[in-house]
Amino acid sequence: MANSTETCLPATLRRLIGRKVGPSFRSVAEIEEVPLEQPGHDQVLLRIAYAGVNGGCETFRCRGSSYTPFAANQKAEKFVLGAEASGTVVAVGEGVETLKVGDAVTCSGSGGFAEYITTSQRSCFPVKEASAEAVVLTLSGLTAAVALKATGGPLKAGERALVTAAGGATGHMGVQLALLAGCHVVAVCGSEAKAKRLRDLGVHRVINYREEDVGEVLRSEYPEGIDVAYEGVGGPLRDAVLDNLSKRGRMLVVGYISEYPHVKPDDGEAEGRRGLPPAQELFWQGKTVHIGDQTVYGNVWSGAKRQDIPAFRRELFDLHEEGRLQAWVDSRRFHGVEQVSDAIEYMLTGQAVGKVIVSF
Ligand SMILES: NC(=O)c1ccc[n+]([C@@H]2O[C@H](COP(=O)([O-])OP(=O)(O)OC[C@H]3O[C@@H](n4cnc5c(N)ncnc54)[C@H](OP(=O)(O)O)[C@@H]3O)[C@@H](O)[C@H]2O)c1
Repeated sequence: MANSTETCLPATLRRLIGRKVGPSFRSVAEIEEVPLEQPGHDQVLLRIAYAGVNGGCETFRCRGSSYTPFAANQKAEKFVLGAEASGTVVAVGEGVETLKVGDAVTCSGSGGFAEYITTSQRSCFPVKEASAEAVVLTLSGLTAAVALKATGGPLKAGERALVTAAGGATGHMGVQLALLAGCHVVAVCGSEAKAKRLRDLGVHRVINYREEDVGEVLRSEYPEGIDVAYEGVGGPLRDAVLDNLSKRGRMLVVGYISEYPHVKPDDGEAEGRRGLPPAQELFWQGKTVHIGDQTVYGNVWSGAKRQDIPAFRRELFDLHEEGRLQAWVDSRRFHGVEQVSDAIEYMLTGQAVGKVIVSF
């Protein structure tokens, strides 16, 4: 039961749901129109302004891949789609102390591909403006901050840090956090458009893997190896980075998108590579593997406690507000529930610079 509500709300909302798992987001996603729910105890109702397309969640969520937290989708009658959004509070339920109607927030969890969402107050983070940039910071930025500052960190000035998918949503965050820490930053990406933006940030060495061999560049230019790698691509690129880690180097496995089920069938990889477990096991079971004095973290969140997360997020938003951290939103525009599948397919082409965002 709401205890405060904006006037003039519509009677219904439209959102994207799945009723069965399937081989792609488009094959699963359907538009559902349902009555606008009043928030219950501890809940708020948000009008979504922007939702983010997430490299991992939307490739696995729609398939209900059995080795992921989305396996329950295989048997669910219905599951909501989307992982992150920004919006405005339009109604608050009983017991909500920290938010009021009119507040701008970002939220993460399930169900961001919707015009309105009812969610718990603790999944919301108050922000100055419900912007597209706020969505970039919410999960993509936070992942990089926790990985680099807590799990594999803190980064030290002068360390050689390497980021793959460096022009992407979480990659450009990792790059900037490493630069802010005073690291020597190597950024790996797959287009000249991304390479230019990365050079403009002040990255010390950009490697466009379509033009240069990453392993060769690292062997010849970084004979002492990379101290910390923020790696989200997997496959042969991960091998090349792992082969060139420094003696006590650490690798933060943020994902393995080149091996996700949109590329490889969902029955997974038979064997691991370079002495590591298969990528899906390393990542989804969050394993930490030691190879001599080197450490590979399969769960980049493992270094932070739940209660520390708001402080990491606050720091990111402060850096952004001070103009010291850019949040890149790709220039291609997508709008409404009808265009979410287009946005996801576009992100998976690898062309996007920064985060792919859908406005509502
Ligand atoms: N652990 C977590 O909590 C967490 C959170 C956010 C993201 N992630 C992971 O981080 C990685 C990056 O995700 P993101 O959301 O920031 O996406 P993104 O980097 O904005 O987009 C994906 C990028 O990956 C690269 N890529 C390489 N091979 C690819 C392929 N076969 N298909 C599609 N893209 C390919 C492309 O860039 P280049 O060609 O320039 O390399 C592409 O632009 C993903 O593995 C994702 O699952 C994990």
